[in-house]
Amino acid sequence: MIDNKLWEPFRLKKTILSNRLVMAPLTRSRGNADGTVGDFASIYYAQRATMGLIISEATHVSLSGQGFLNAPGIYSEKQMNSWKPVIQAVHSLGGHMFMQLIHNGRMVHPANTIDNHIGLAPSAIAPENSTAHTVEGRKPYPIPIPMTISDINTVINDFSHSAKMSILAGADGVEVHGANGYLLHQFMGVNSNVRTDEYGGNIENRARLSLEVVKKTCDEIGSQRVGFRISPHGPKDLSIDEGKQIKEFYHYLVNKLNNFNLAYLHVLDYGFENEVINDIVDTYKGTIILNKANRPLDELTEPLESKKADLIAVGHWAISNPDLVYRLQNNKELNKLNYNTLYGGGNVGNLAMPTEGYIDYPTIEDIDVKNI
Ligand SMILES: Cc1cc2nc3c(=O)[nH]c(=O)nc-3n(C[C@H](O)[C@H](O)[C@H](O)COP(=O)(O)O)c2cc1C
Repeated sequence: MIDNKLWEPFRLKKTILSNRLVMAPLTRSRGNADGTVGDFASIYYAQRATMGLIISEATHVSLSGQGFLNAPGIYSEKQMNSWKPVIQAVHSLGGHMFMQLIHNGRMVHPANTIDNHIGLAPSAIAPENSTAHTVEGRKPYPIPIPMTISDINTVINDFSHSAKMSILAGADGVEVHGANGYLLHQFMGVNSNVRTDEYGGNIENRARLSLEVVKKTCDEIGSQRVGFRISPHGPKDLSIDEGKQIKEFYHYLVNKLNNFNLAYLHVLDYGFENEVINDIVDTYKGTIILNKANRPLDELTEPLESKKADLIAVGHWAISNPDLVYRLQNNKELNKLNYNTLYGGGNVGNLAMPTEGYIDYPTIEDIDVKNI
């Protein structure tokens, strides 16, 4: 059985989590065109409610911030109402849920949006190594529109507005997405942000937007309900380079985040910046969720033992194992992941598969019944 520490309850500010296993945010592209969450989300998330904390798939904070195919949002009344039963279903089973808030920035393909918009970004630079998943297959991202100061102020307000909507929907909190090459991360990169105003150039300026978003969001819903996600230098294919001073950059950012008394800092460790990750963990004073990408199962709890992290997030395993907690607690084999059904629409743009690979992964109980 996986180490007992993972199964100890954890106090996340005012929320008591039943264990320390966290479902990482996972975009599944099964929402509706108006940004409401898809019909089967209540089942999908409820199936996974035994995990101590669920972080929702990235939900966009405005139409301009939406760029994934069929991704839900949380800024309109209708979207907020669509999330209520999902969160209620998780709560009714003793689970807890934070909504991840995203602005895609330049990671927007017009074909994925209802108004055919192009992304906004710190500078007019498209991601070099990345293509968008669209209904017509994978396509290069267009060159984004550089943001004015007024656009920046709008985005700051959009995050805090969506945070308020998340709380109205019943969520326990929100996670501001500062990772994986999306808008806030684009501002952090020296290759994605070549601005010459107070939002570009030195470390303070490249961290400014993230800190302003966090501040406004904390002012809106209270810092104990706000988390922040970072992914130093990763993933590589999303073309964000925080520069030679990457360690100093995150040291500065994390030190500033210390001042907010957030619910948590969520660190996504892709495994190639050990020195940076170690410094972040040493510098941050509050709760750390660590998501070590692609680690083997026998290393899952190492960060708890070495006190690098308080909570452990997992992605792929949470998709393919609705009863992951039970399986880990009882030493049961894990289901294999079907990569073709990760995103609704699959890799070939077939939108008619909302449930496949979403709510039909078997539990151990399902498998046992089948074998009788
Ligand atoms: C299908 C899929 C969707 C993802 N969507 C998001 C997302 O919406 N927001 C986010 O921050 N990370 C997202 N990620 C990254 C995961 O949260 C996680 O960091 C990554 O899968 C590595 O962890 P793992 O090895 O435990 O899966 C996604 C990953 C996958 C595979």
